[in-house]
Amino acid sequence: MDFKIKSGELAKAKTPCLILGVYDKRKPTAALEAVDTATGGALGDLLATGDITGGKGDCLVAYKLPGIAAERVLLLGLGKRKELDRTALEKAFAAALSRLAEIRITEALLALPEPPKGMDLYGMVRHLVQQAAYSAYRYEHTKEPDKAAPAPLKRLAIWVDDKAGAEAAGRAAGHGAAIAEGVRLARDLGNLPGNICTPSYLAEQALELGRRYDRLLIEILEEAEMESLGMGALLSVSRGSRQPAKLIVMRYAGAPKTKGGSGKPMVLVGKGLTFDAGGISIKPAAEMDEMKYDMAGGASVLGTMAAVCEMRLPIDVIGVVPASENLPDGAANKPGDIVKSMSGQTIEILNTDAEGRLILCDALTYVERFEPAAVIDMATLTGACIVALGRHPSGLFTSDDALAEEITAAGEAAGDRVWRMPLWDEYQSQLDSNFADMANIGGRDGGAITAAAFLSRYTKSYPWAHLDIAGTAWVTGKEKGGTGRPVPLLAEILIRRSGVDT
Ligand code: BES
Ligand code: MN
Ligand code: ZN
Repeated sequence: MDFKIKSGELAKAKTPCLILGVYDKRKPTAALEAVDTATGGALGDLLATGDITGGKGDCLVAYKLPGIAAERVLLLGLGKRKELDRTALEKAFAAALSRLAEIRITEALLALPEPPKGMDLYGMVRHLVQQAAYSAYRYEHTKEPDKAAPAPLKRLAIWVDDKAGAEAAGRAAGHGAAIAEGVRLARDLGNLPGNICTPSYLAEQALELGRRYDRLLIEILEEAEMESLGMGALLSVSRGSRQPAKLIVMRYAGAPKTKGGSGKPMVLVGKGLTFDAGGISIKPAAEMDEMKYDMAGGASVLGTMAAVCEMRLPIDVIGVVPASENLPDGAANKPGDIVKSMSGQTIEILNTDAEGRLILCDALTYVERFEPAAVIDMATLTGACIVALGRHPSGLFTSDDALAEEITAAGEAAGDRVWRMPLWDEYQSQLDSNFADMANIGGRDGGAITAAAFLSRYTKSYPWAHLDIAGTAWVTGKEKGGTGRPVPLLAEILIRRSGVDT
């Protein structure tokens, strides 16, 4: 999808469709007023008919207006001016996008209202760009696009009224398009079936990114190398699968060598479980297909790395994805099996379906070598997290308050929110094992927390936070599919850490 920033006289702008906002009770936005003057009051007359009141998401399309170059005008209700916030704007813009699709308009010019509460121009433009790209996404890998269905938007121009604004909006559109590309990649990978999106496929996608971006170096560790590193936990999961495990390491060098900084990279680790049948502790059949998205954490690492490369952020970032399947097999883990992790700690596998933590713990030990500024891991780790929080926020687990605040604030700003859960020592004893240093499950109580508590035992040497994205990386039901979360959150964190202008 194409994005452009425009300024100048709105009435003279040539476009198939000009989108103008109107607040509740037919109060015009500044842009609407300006265009109304050019039409000799025709828009005002139209409003006076009462056919549109300006309620959030109301749409009215008008044709052949005098005095303007636009072929048609879409009047878009924004709701009460005082109540306009990110979600209200999102809702209104979604209505405009679906009306455009209905009338088969693939190119439009949007005249912005003033930024909603808690947002500046940069934030508003970036958000709208991401939203437009998100709604234009179609999965097409294994299915022909439906010819009869409304076509998605192809080109969106955004109009800002002054020079300074145009600059910030330009940066926002660039960042928004980059993040949208990362989200698209993450959604595609999540939507691809397990028989296509295997650990090798994920590795191949990472290599492809490495070929596309000059600052990005890719290394794929094979099982033999994992063996010599002592990654007994990761390898125990992949032993039950015919697909070889891959440990994907992606290095982006963006920090200027001359300027100080901490010199330490940000490290992202994502669970890349390309299909989770549960192993010998096999899952029930219903909705098991959805376990193809158990690599969403890994997909979000690839997506975020792509976004960072597109933005050319001046920061060092390393992405690591342990990739494996989890299937029942004669060689698979059995309940009671004990494995030795790369850290030297032994693990009694009481449930083979708690495999995410097994592949993650070795990856988390592996990343110590990078002396990270901080490590954030993303994983569709527990159904318990969905029970606890529903599907709106990702679960955030960390004992580092500063990191928790940073991630929470970035999530609010990016519209990709998290909710912090406790990670107190009291939970650790649920992982006690009679036969190993720890068990891989902690019983029914606080399942998302004991999973995080398990990971915390492998992350002592750097600042660390864990995101449980089981509820947020995927939409269930009729519209099922990947969401690309938490790419927007991670991109926001990295933009902020890089210190670039926003
Ligand atoms: N990948 C699943 C978690 C999951 C469940 C993600 C539902 C998305 C939707 C994970 O590997 C798993 O199976 N976790 C178990 C842990 C349990 C055995 C302690 C779970 O949540 O049931
Ligand atoms: Mn599982
Ligand atoms: Zn899993």
